[in-house]
Amino acid sequence: MKILVATEKPFAAVAVEGIKKEIEQAGHTLVLLEKGTKADLLKAVTDVEGLIIRSDIVDTEVLDAAQNLKVVVRAGAGVDNVDLQAAKERGVCVMNTPGQNSNAVAELVFGMLVMMIRNRYNGTSGTELKGKTLGIHAFGQVGRNVARIAKGFGMEVSALDPFVTDEAMLAEGVKPVHSVEELYSNNQYVSLHIPATSETKGSVGEALVKLMPKKGVLINTARKEIINEASLIDALRNREDIRYIADVKPDAAEAMTAEFGERVFFTPKKMGAQTAEANINAGIAAAKQVVAFLKDGWNKYQVNK
Ligand code: 3PG
Repeated sequence: MKILVATEKPFAAVAVEGIKKEIEQAGHTLVLLEKGTKADLLKAVTDVEGLIIRSDIVDTEVLDAAQNLKVVVRAGAGVDNVDLQAAKERGVCVMNTPGQNSNAVAELVFGMLVMMIRNRYNGTSGTELKGKTLGIHAFGQVGRNVARIAKGFGMEVSALDPFVTDEAMLAEGVKPVHSVEELYSNNQYVSLHIPATSETKGSVGEALVKLMPKKGVLINTARKEIINEASLIDALRNREDIRYIADVKPDAAEAMTAEFGERVFFTPKKMGAQTAEANINAGIAAAKQVVAFLKDGWNKYQVNK
């Protein structure tokens, strides 16, 4: 059978090698589409049974063009780029690869945060993370890795997640909090790890950011859609001490950089999972999952049941 790996942001070459090996060992054929356009994708999916993607959009148009498609695996966590319902209606199983790229994202949180609080290494005196407060907004796979690293820096870590018990957080040395207001009021740094869903989209803006202690930094390595941009801009205007870092460039990135200068930082392209290790982990897991599904319907990480 044919398995298409379609990535607008390609995996490291070493990961592609590993994916190819998994697919070919199982007797399938790999079709590789890197940096393709939507038209390229529509053409490439026509005769494939399996599809491996990253943040690439799989909408009804793609699903309708993919008449033989049985399984889509998102090599990574977020599945907001896939029309899950449409896939379900067409009998296509969609899975993600939980946890496989979470350390990479968590490390980037600190890479960007240290850069910001050391004033982008411009020769002036910055601040340290040791002894400072960090609030983790959602304690999933990435949030847990963020907590682990934060403790290495000597930070005081708390987290909010209605789906995780207090005991589970306490076992990892993290203080559980039970409201967003408490999370934002008590932490100088807040790191966002909520998925983009109908409930979370636009949910973070001035109402929360204005609660942050002096010299607060909001770090977003999750999704741009969870931010209410106009409201965040108001918060940055009204609180000149607040800074915003995002690995998911806002729509208003240019205007924000022009207005807020060094108080904001945006990666040019989502870089959180862009490491050789994360590419290998997520890419090979995705290949194994596609192969297992095509073999005997294995669907442990299905997200559109
Ligand atoms: C994820 O959801 O797994 C991360 O945001 C990484 O996304 P990417 O594979 O598009 O870099």
